[in-house]
Amino acid sequence: MTQREMARLDVTETFQGIIFPGHLHTQESLRYATNFKFQDTDTLIVTYPKSGTTWMQEVVTMVSCRGDTVKSQTQPNWARAPWIEQYYCPDVLKASQGPRLLTTHLPYELLASALQGSKAKVIYVARNPKDVVVSYYYFHKMAKFLKDPGTFSEFLSDFLEGTVYYGSWFDHVKGWTSNARNIDNFLYITYEEMWEDLRGSLMKVSRFLQCSLLEDELTSAQKTCGFNTMSQNCMVNYTLIPQEIMDHSKGKFMRKGQIGDWVNTFSQEQSHNFDEVYASKMADSMLKFVWETK
Ligand code: A3P
Repeated sequence: MTQREMARLDVTETFQGIIFPGHLHTQESLRYATNFKFQDTDTLIVTYPKSGTTWMQEVVTMVSCRGDTVKSQTQPNWARAPWIEQYYCPDVLKASQGPRLLTTHLPYELLASALQGSKAKVIYVARNPKDVVVSYYYFHKMAKFLKDPGTFSEFLSDFLEGTVYYGSWFDHVKGWTSNARNIDNFLYITYEEMWEDLRGSLMKVSRFLQCSLLEDELTSAQKTCGFNTMSQNCMVNYTLIPQEIMDHSKGKFMRKGQIGDWVNTFSQEQSHNFDEVYASKMADSMLKFVWETK
């Protein structure tokens, strides 16, 4: 981490009405993302934070490398799949070769014009928002570049109002999925689907990327992308981030990796209130999430 990042730990950037942590985002880096020059060979992973971003970065890495683990074991995730809105992205891309793997947490509206007419492959990963908010809350507690989240109840209110970093979960999911038809190559997948069938999800991603894997390559990818292996891989578990930026004594990035674990943090009343807000905010969405149908 650079001196510059340390100096901006407490800075919040507001861009198009959304707040972003200032240690990695600047007005210039956010403008660079909204004007991003996509190439048709790019793959873009899109997520709302805490929805399985790092997991999908590992999945795409292992699919593209056809089960070879060298990249996954030697290159940090942010260097092999940079966030286009973060200030270091241009430098990472300048130094990289071959088809580019990119990541973003930006809402659709901010990338709509940059993506127009592009054949870049877009993979959108969604996760049960109750698990997202719990994961996000604990992440705020360890990440020194994010504001103190207060109590879970306070953080939950901010999340439901969409005043947290990267904006509203509801707008993010609705924006990307309802505009999928405007994107030539779009894959929608959920954290829950990956959790229930990692091998099937790897196959789905490999079909989408037109990169078919042999059985043993698939087996290697499945092992590398498993929660236990990723938890121990310093290239994806964020233990390379210094203590001044992430307080590793306060929690782990690879925290639990569960589905439905929100029940251990939400009260019944919070869950009920969440369901009401969810029903009203998602009423105009055709999208049915897997966890809704169970
Ligand atoms: P929890 O905090 O619920 O454990 P992101 O990468 O978007 O920030 O998401 C982080 C969340 O994805 C964390 O959730 C993390 O544990 C989980 N995760 C990362 N890799 C995973 C894997 N291989 N299997 C299951 N969950 C994983």
